[in-house]
Amino acid sequence: MHKTPQPGLATRCVHAGSPEQPAGPVVNPVCLTSTFRFRDADHGAALFAGTESGYIYTRMLNPTVKELEDCIAELEGGAFGLATGSGMAAIHTTIAALCSSGDHVVCSEAVYGPTLSLLSDIFSRLGIQSTAVDTTAVEKVAAALTPATRVLFVETPGNPTLCISDLAALARLCRERSITLVVDNTFMTPALQQPLELGADIVVHSLTKFLNGHADVVGGIIVVKDKSVYDRFRRVLNHLGGVLAPFEAFLVRRGIRTLHLRMQRHCENASRIAAFLETHPKVAWVRFPGLASHPQFELGRRQMQGPGGMISFELKGGIAAGRSLMNSTRLCALAVSLGGVETLIQHPASMTHAGVSREARLAAGITDGLVRLSVGIEDPADIITDLEQAMARD
Ligand SMILES: Cc1ncc(COP(=O)(O)O)c(C=O)c1O
Repeated sequence: MHKTPQPGLATRCVHAGSPEQPAGPVVNPVCLTSTFRFRDADHGAALFAGTESGYIYTRMLNPTVKELEDCIAELEGGAFGLATGSGMAAIHTTIAALCSSGDHVVCSEAVYGPTLSLLSDIFSRLGIQSTAVDTTAVEKVAAALTPATRVLFVETPGNPTLCISDLAALARLCRERSITLVVDNTFMTPALQQPLELGADIVVHSLTKFLNGHADVVGGIIVVKDKSVYDRFRRVLNHLGGVLAPFEAFLVRRGIRTLHLRMQRHCENASRIAAFLETHPKVAWVRFPGLASHPQFELGRRQMQGPGGMISFELKGGIAAGRSLMNSTRLCALAVSLGGVETLIQHPASMTHAGVSREARLAAGITDGLVRLSVGIEDPADIITDLEQAMARD
């Protein structure tokens, strides 16, 4: 039988999740309503009973939010999406849906700081214990699993060290042990990495970053592969309440229309800037998945369709030189977050990862002097000129 070929990435970024209309607006209007009118009492009862499908209340589902959920589910190669009010809400909802008291989670040690804090400070109080490990070493992950382990949570490339974990190998391990593999795909987006295809069960994102791409929305999403998991997650999300609002969903869907173009430019710019940094006499080391000096360079080439837009590096003058650099850039804004069209520079040890103990930070390779760049889509020569003048001041 003839199989319809899957449309290419650019086509899906523009069209995925948008129901084709024979006539009417090309862009669907934002459905700004908190609640939906029922035809009559029987209709309302049928919607609540699930014997009829339709919209009830925006916390439960909204057409604009659903359009975004369908779009990202399609881009990730999943079946269903659940949009959340932030990336942290996506991670919270996922762990709450998968784990009960007595269960155990294994998590990458190089992850966004609050992900570790959520596990160690909040879920631990609910009886869900966790262990942070170097997920670039499959044998270390295997050694950390216990009979109570329900979830392996992996961020790759990891924030902010950009270490790369082998998703296919970790997925095999999880399958053997009936453990759910959850991957935070924020740094790559489905334009550069498809964790579900590599065997992961669930993908989470901070929409705040590359997917929206314009630094004007906070949001998150969970993508799952089957209906029974979706139904369970939807119920948990509905009761926890951390949903995305329709206007934010509209903005993110709009951002995704240029995702393929932006990611290509982020990769090109970051490659130029990483090469510049690597040869600069004041730079001690650079971590970037596109550099041959990256410890998992070959794995990255197999697993990812591009190196992404994130770079970590340290100056020879350590933390003092790093501070001077961050205080001296003009084009690169000193701010946390990432994935927007503008270049941002920040200091993980005192900012995004300040909540992680120094001992845990150093074990994960997050040195005191590490500076993180989120490379935007400006002219690369201008970013280089800015970094050059800032380094010259020290
Ligand atoms: C990789 C990663 N995951 C999750 C999050 C949390 O996302 P949010 O800030 O949207 O809650 C972040 C935030 O920086 C992140 O970098």
